[in-house]
Amino acid sequence: MLDFATHADIAFSYAPGKVILVGEHAVVYGAKALAMPIDHGIRVAVSRDMSGRLQGPMIRGIGPFFMGDTFLDRKSKGPQVLTSALSYLQEAFSVAAEEMMIVVDGSLPPGCGLGSSASLSVALIRAIYRFLAKELSDQVLREHVLALETIFHGRPSGIDHAVVISAQAISFKHHAGIAQISPVLLSQDLQLVIGIAGPHDGTKNAVKSLGERLKRQEQAYTRIFCDLDQIAESMEQALIKGQRAFVGELMNIAQGYLNALSLSTPEIEKLCAIARDRGALGAKLTGAGGGGAVIALCDGAEGEVCNAIKAAGYQSFITTVPKAHNSPIPN
Ligand code: MEV
Repeated sequence: MLDFATHADIAFSYAPGKVILVGEHAVVYGAKALAMPIDHGIRVAVSRDMSGRLQGPMIRGIGPFFMGDTFLDRKSKGPQVLTSALSYLQEAFSVAAEEMMIVVDGSLPPGCGLGSSASLSVALIRAIYRFLAKELSDQVLREHVLALETIFHGRPSGIDHAVVISAQAISFKHHAGIAQISPVLLSQDLQLVIGIAGPHDGTKNAVKSLGERLKRQEQAYTRIFCDLDQIAESMEQALIKGQRAFVGELMNIAQGYLNALSLSTPEIEKLCAIARDRGALGAKLTGAGGGGAVIALCDGAEGEVCNAIKAAGYQSFITTVPKAHNSPIPN
């Protein structure tokens, strides 16, 4: 039983989604990647079951993220992401989880490489700790989120939850098995147009099948990862100096490499072409690829690019990444 004196009636949390500006997939193999939070994310509310009829935790997913309204308890099956989250909560919080009613709402399109699972994981764990009135250290948050992301993604590099937790632009690279994370000191706010090329086949599958191709094409793929690492290095410097046109060019080059790694699709190429044609400085897929989202960096043509993508029959919106606030990033 939860102790009424020490537990909140209801607790809320929110975590942003993310985009990867450069280095997706290559980051799994040690290359540098740059990632940024976006102003769309996931909200979680945790409350206590007052009916006394609950037999275990319950999750309700609402809003566009779940395309409607989904109820899930231990007897019913629902979207994979919620089923997995629920069984993890039972394992990690045991008795305390039994009386939790969790509502998840979000403004991120689902399964599009915009960090929905990392955003859900971070918001969920923070809300649960608030609900239980327990201190949550960064270390413990990271452990829970890594466990959830491993269920969702298989073998995550950790970049998604690192950017979601830090809520600022970061550079991320594994060195000797340890993630090196530092803020990217953006000199100005960055507006990005996001276009949705369609759902992807899941990050887990994308990472797995790239791993299989890598075994066959080790030399070629390794060279590409090295080049993407250097592109990320140059892009970071250009972002710091505010050289947007240069950043855009590097995004286009990165997209060429992602296509070479068989991560692009005709729809992704089409959205990149529309964006460039309407004045974007650069455009590329973001996240796992094989579908999902395209990001375009523009210099005043954001509205035109967004409208052109919508006119072609795809979802699109504009997001702003705030310039650096340079908070320390906990390890
Ligand atoms: C997914 O947002 C990014 C990938 O590089 C996977 C990972 O780094 O965990 C595709």
